[in-house]
Amino acid sequence: MGNDFIPLKIAGVGYYVPETVITNEDLKKLYDTSDEWIYTRTGIKERRVVSGNETAIDLGYNAAKMALKNSGIDVKDIDCVIGAASAPPQIYPTLACLLQAKFGIPNHVPAFDLTAACTGLIYALQIARGFIGAGIYKNILIVAADNNSKITDWTDRGTSILFGDGAGAMVVTASDDGIDDILSIDISADGSIGQLIQTNMPQECCPLVKAADEVGTGKIIMNGKDVYKFAVSTVPSYVEKCIEKSGMTSQEIDYLIPHQANQRIIESIQNRLKYSDEKVISNIKYYGNTSAASIPIALAEGVEQGKIKLGSTAVLCGFGAGMTWGAAVVRLREGIVKL
Ligand code: COA
Repeated sequence: MGNDFIPLKIAGVGYYVPETVITNEDLKKLYDTSDEWIYTRTGIKERRVVSGNETAIDLGYNAAKMALKNSGIDVKDIDCVIGAASAPPQIYPTLACLLQAKFGIPNHVPAFDLTAACTGLIYALQIARGFIGAGIYKNILIVAADNNSKITDWTDRGTSILFGDGAGAMVVTASDDGIDDILSIDISADGSIGQLIQTNMPQECCPLVKAADEVGTGKIIMNGKDVYKFAVSTVPSYVEKCIEKSGMTSQEIDYLIPHQANQRIIESIQNRLKYSDEKVISNIKYYGNTSAASIPIALAEGVEQGKIKLGSTAVLCGFGAGMTWGAAVVRLREGIVKL
């Protein structure tokens, strides 16, 4: 980076989850399963889902409101909106555009979504860092929101046990004290194994031409076993490398805030870093996998519950469809979540 790279400050974090709870016991009404089977393999007991007309846009709006309030930055000073969404209600208008309108953010402010599935928050943070660092935008609203429950195949017991709905948001800004809250960050991808998690759109060819062999269902199709193997073989060593790049040792970092996909995957990272349970933030038991929202939900809720003390550092890491993965070592300043 050049000498005039502008450092980034994480100013505020927020989250929101829908009220409706679906427990493992409830899922027994859909297929042959048990709380014991699900909990021992995933660490999940329940998840939240949208109902009726509620969508990821509503969840994202509430999470963004909390992040803006915590940041102390007026919504009228936001100059870029990035949505991290992989299961929004519409491909377009995007989550970011709909939120721009809902907040009354003026038209000269760009708003766009990126699709990096469960790594979306880390991808958005890296993009925001580039924009802020180069002086292109100053105050960026990042919103990660998905209504996974609407693209879940509720007859597939291997996949539908995992996902839940939720939203997380971050307001990031040009640092006014010269301190960079990003100590290291990296994002990666391997499209050659992209078939491990797919959502294929229900698209059909023009009726005047030959039809495609298959039409997508619009639902998540996942090879759970291979995703699991990918995650435990790739992510722990990758997180370690990201920590090395930060110039800190893993023991010096206060918390691991990982994507909440599976408790056993979280533990594989925890074991690699030799972290005690107190250093690892896990709320998968109550929310399942909320895609890109899972890191900011775990962060903001972790502060509210006293599991995270601010004025500290954390390593964030995400992985998911694409396949994509990413990690960041960040400073968690006082006040980013107000109690
Ligand atoms: N309840 C009861 N039995 C179930 C079940 C359920 N909900 N889901 C699957 N089973 C059965 C299978 O039918 C299979 O039975 P069989 O041996 O008679 O064929 C058996 O349990 C084992 O299934 P398998 O899919 O091999 O289980 P698994 O141990 O790999 O666990 C996951 C499945 C999905 C929990 C696990 O692979 C996983 O968590 N993977 C990671 C997925 C992930 O994190 N994705 C998101 C990444 S961002």
